[in-house]
Amino acid sequence: MVGALHHLNKYLGRYRYLLVLGTVATLLSSALSIIPARLIKHAFELVQTSVVAYQVSVEAHLRRATYEKLAEGLFAYGVLMLLAAILRGLFLFLARRIIMVVGKRVEYALKNEIYAHYQTLPLSFYTRHSVGDMMARISEDVHQVGMYLGPAIAYGLNTVVVFLMLIPYMLVINTRLTLYAVLPIVLSTTGACYISSFMQERAATVQDKLSRLTTFVQESFSGIVVLQAFSRETGFIKVFSEACNTYKTQSLRLSVINALFFAVVKSIIGLGAVLVVFLGGQEVIKGRCKPGDIAEFVMYFNLLGWPTFAISWINVLVQKATASQKRINALLQEKNPIFSKEMLQNPIKGSIAFNNVSFTYPNSDVKALQSVHFEVAAGKMVAIIGTTGAGKSTIAHLICRLYDATAGSITIDGVPIQDYSIPYLRQQLGYVPQDVLLFSDTIRNNIAWGKPEATNLQIAQAAQLAAIYGEIQQLSKQMETMLGERGATLSGGQKQRIATARAFVRTPKILVLDDCLSAVDTKTAGDILHNIAKAMQGSAVLLITHSVFSAQFADHILVLEAGKLVEQGTHESLLAQKSLYNTLYKQQQYAK
Ligand SMILES: Nc1ncnc2c1ncn2[C@@H]1O[C@H](COP(=O)(O)OP(=O)(O)OP(=O)(O)O)[C@@H](O)[C@H]1O
Ligand SMILES: [Mg+2]
Repeated sequence: MVGALHHLNKYLGRYRYLLVLGTVATLLSSALSIIPARLIKHAFELVQTSVVAYQVSVEAHLRRATYEKLAEGLFAYGVLMLLAAILRGLFLFLARRIIMVVGKRVEYALKNEIYAHYQTLPLSFYTRHSVGDMMARISEDVHQVGMYLGPAIAYGLNTVVVFLMLIPYMLVINTRLTLYAVLPIVLSTTGACYISSFMQERAATVQDKLSRLTTFVQESFSGIVVLQAFSRETGFIKVFSEACNTYKTQSLRLSVINALFFAVVKSIIGLGAVLVVFLGGQEVIKGRCKPGDIAEFVMYFNLLGWPTFAISWINVLVQKATASQKRINALLQEKNPIFSKEMLQNPIKGSIAFNNVSFTYPNSDVKALQSVHFEVAAGKMVAIIGTTGAGKSTIAHLICRLYDATAGSITIDGVPIQDYSIPYLRQQLGYVPQDVLLFSDTIRNNIAWGKPEATNLQIAQAAQLAAIYGEIQQLSKQMETMLGERGATLSGGQKQRIATARAFVRTPKILVLDDCLSAVDTKTAGDILHNIAKAMQGSAVLLITHSVFSAQFADHILVLEAGKLVEQGTHESLLAQKSLYNTLYKQQQYAK
């Protein structure tokens, strides 16, 4: 196996014994498919000799004996043919089943490999690829590869075996006739391969249109709130209908080629059969072979029909699978540039230092952070405040090692962040992202997601800290209440607090809260921050916020503007500086 499909050899090697068994079953079923042709030849000859014997016998008992011999012979041939057909069916079933099982198992293993690889890829990969594209690789592309693994291997084996077994028999019967018979086979295969090259291109276009359609539908469903609120239904229906129409047109173009493909192959093979009978008849007239031989030959030719057709079909399957496997390989070759050098698992106290850290997001030229320098002592609460787009969330991303700094260094307890084992580092972290995400599961499981082994008591305590416990208790199913997709059945503030409880339940050494109280009223936000100050003693807390009210709970405040750290200090010292922090404070006081 060559090219992209080479990747599958490691899996096929794993199932080599099953593949050998499948090949043996294919061999047996092919051998049994030849038997009826041989029997037909003998039956034909028996009929011929019996007719002659019947004609030359004058006495009635001799004629009856000839007739009975013929009847017995034909009956025996009939029974043998039936037996061969049954056995052939049995082996064919076994062969297909074994190879399809191998195909499905490899498909399963490949899907798992891709999914596991997706999990290792950095956030920068996910911002570069659309969900539709990633879904297509793990479902549609794997399916195309599966078609190669199952049907293509099964029919490919069958084709090779049938050809190898039949051609020698045909050559023995009549060499010239065999050459005539091979001609339409070569012709139809070449024609089909030529057509299939167009098929490839059109199939790729159809695939592309389908994935665009899927992405469009997926986006319109997940954005249904905005869609309905802006009353854009009619516009979307129109766009959908246009996208659907393009897909339909491309599919029809593909089906024309498909139809042509089948028609060309079938008609050339059909014409070939006529040619074989015609030329075979002439061979009989010339006395070069017997009518029984021609009957046998025509049966062999017919047996070659499907395998010949299969060659072209397998060609299409292999081409499609190669294209898909190339896309899969491109994904599997993606490496995560974020890895741990030393795999350290030192106990973390939680002091964080940013030493002249600069950062630019991959594929962007915006300097999200420029020479940011600060230190957070362990057990302290630090607030990061600033205008929007100032780089606050970027600091959270760097601490979670979702990205690595472009310049400068980040240390935790004096150790470079790159030296910690990544899973270990993340286990020490409790991170609530700015866009909170809940799963369509129970509230309990959503909180326990932060620590699967958490007890009911720990979950309840985390909910209490996040000031959401009371509201959960009022629900009829309480902790067992099921949430809609992405937490759709909750209010914005409830979602934020459940996501915060999920971080609390881990009792992390470093708690990173990215503007996660923005939808919570000031009093509740104050309660939560009080709770954090009490319950999270010993943990470093990074509180990213737009609100001066929240920031004043922190021991230390960092003020960011356009990627630069412009001020830092306590609430009082910053107010005294009468700069950006003071301006924000006044604006927020005024807004109240
Ligand atoms: N994935 C990304 N790729 C490229 N640029 C990005 C990406 N994420 C953020 N940025 C850019 O980096 C800068 C800092 O973004 P960041 O999200 O850190 O701001 P922020 O202070 O958290 O803002 P906000 O208060 O609105 O949440 C912005 O200019 C933003 O456009
Ligand atoms: Mg942000």
